[in-house]
Amino acid sequence: MKFLILNGPNINMLGIREKNIYGTETYEDLLKLCREKAEELGVEVSFIQSNHEGALVDAIQEAYGVIDGIVFNPAAYTHTSVAILDALKAVSIPTVEVHISDVGSREEFRQVSYVRAACFKTITGHGLKGYTEAMEALVDNNKMKGNA
Ligand code: DQA
Repeated sequence: MKFLILNGPNINMLGIREKNIYGTETYEDLLKLCREKAEELGVEVSFIQSNHEGALVDAIQEAYGVIDGIVFNPAAYTHTSVAILDALKAVSIPTVEVHISDVGSREEFRQVSYVRAACFKTITGHGLKGYTEAMEALVDNNKMKGNA
């Protein structure tokens, strides 16, 4: 199985941005954590981070026919992007929505998630561990569908 770990704007600033909310671990730490998890699960993993909405749409489209599962933190675009929702719907790749912080207990504008409608699971507020939990969920989801 091939998983794509897809991250939206400012996730490359982990460890620098709002440490009280997002913690002190860096984007590199996140990649390491996911690589280790991929090895444990016996899956292949690739990573894309972009600060641009269209680049995220392109990444989702390019995943079609290539990627078996997406772990997706669309960051701020979660709350605004119909284009990203439509891209996820277009490719129908099993996707888990991940947020490092507990968006449900934050500002009103973070209460809306456009992408959620195209994701079979959402994990919020578990820090970087949310990404590895999402990888496990993708494996479980695949097993449930009767695949190897
Ligand atoms: C975030 C939450 C979003 O509201 C925010 O815009 C982010 C990160 C999270 O991981 O908690 O950039 O997706």
